[in-house]
Amino acid sequence: MTGDGLTSGQVSSLLLAWYGRAGRQLPWRQTREPYRIWLSEIMLQQTGVDTVIPYYLKFLDRFPDVSTLADAELDAVIALWAGLGYYSRARNLHAAARQVVSAHDGRFPADLASLQSLPGVGRSTAGAILAIAFDRKGVILDGNVRRVLCRLFALEQDPRAVAAERQLWCWAEALTPEDRPHDYAQAIMDLGATVCTPRQPKCAACPLAGLCRARAANLQHELPRSRQKKTVPVQTQVALLLERSGRLLVRKRPLDGMLGGLWEFPAAAVAAGKDPACAARKLLAELGLAGELREAGAVRHAYSHFKLDLHCYRGAVDGPLLVAEAGESRWLELAELGAIPLHGAHKKVLALLASNR
Ligand code: ADE
Repeated sequence: MTGDGLTSGQVSSLLLAWYGRAGRQLPWRQTREPYRIWLSEIMLQQTGVDTVIPYYLKFLDRFPDVSTLADAELDAVIALWAGLGYYSRARNLHAAARQVVSAHDGRFPADLASLQSLPGVGRSTAGAILAIAFDRKGVILDGNVRRVLCRLFALEQDPRAVAAERQLWCWAEALTPEDRPHDYAQAIMDLGATVCTPRQPKCAACPLAGLCRARAANLQHELPRSRQKKTVPVQTQVALLLERSGRLLVRKRPLDGMLGGLWEFPAAAVAAGKDPACAARKLLAELGLAGELREAGAVRHAYSHFKLDLHCYRGAVDGPLLVAEAGESRWLELAELGAIPLHGAHKKVLALLASNR
């Protein structure tokens, strides 16, 4: 019993029967290898299935097991991750692989506490790995499961509130069966992804429709209650497209910061109310270079917690080849720029440049 009238047996038997009929065939479902399951769960944390599949396959081609990944340079891992976003996942992935090798002899641990001690593995991901790779009772509360439970129990509060979060974990725990945890985990995630969707839930196809309190109260479109939309701050930056002898200057972002290890055109923040053109000239001087800059358009890019307005300036420059830079920088031809891991905003800059040529 969940304490709310629903039993684990009722829910899991309906879900498992449905999963047998409607569950998706996905590449990470053809294996029980913990390395592969862990990799898929990390990729799926903030990214949808369709986007993940090619990255997952490419990643396994290059790093087929945990020791290959642990032996790799972080740069090579980040390069394969480029485009998937939330790059701290790539850094954590690499650190976790090294931890599995050094602390667990290259074998993924099969207990919740050790899994959770791996960088990038939180409570829900640890539960998913435990269930899917080891077929042990592992409780999951990812975005999909959260939505299913909010509707099933008609949770009226904001599910991110501390008390609601605690309640959701209790329900998730109570509903997770002791038997077939592997199938149950995938079933409830699939239900959230394909039937109990954020918009237009397909209640007619839902195996839990008869138990669903949101549906009984016709609240399935209202729940989960959404957070008050916060206004997202906008940051203005300038990016410099500096050319010399047919090459453009790019630099690598410090490994320990946001988007660490990815490449970009030299860029700097513009303080509120300041002129971007002044900021562009100041950055050029800081690099120890000289030349005329002209406006080359702007791009906007959204991150999870802010939006970036990036004003681009372009110019041919003179000055030392070795620019005044703390980190790594290179002069590359346009064709070479496509082969390095640029971060998303600067990929847009590259597209802008190509369309301006
Ligand atoms: N989302 C998170 N984990 C998943 C999985 N194993 N299958 C499908 N979607 C998921």
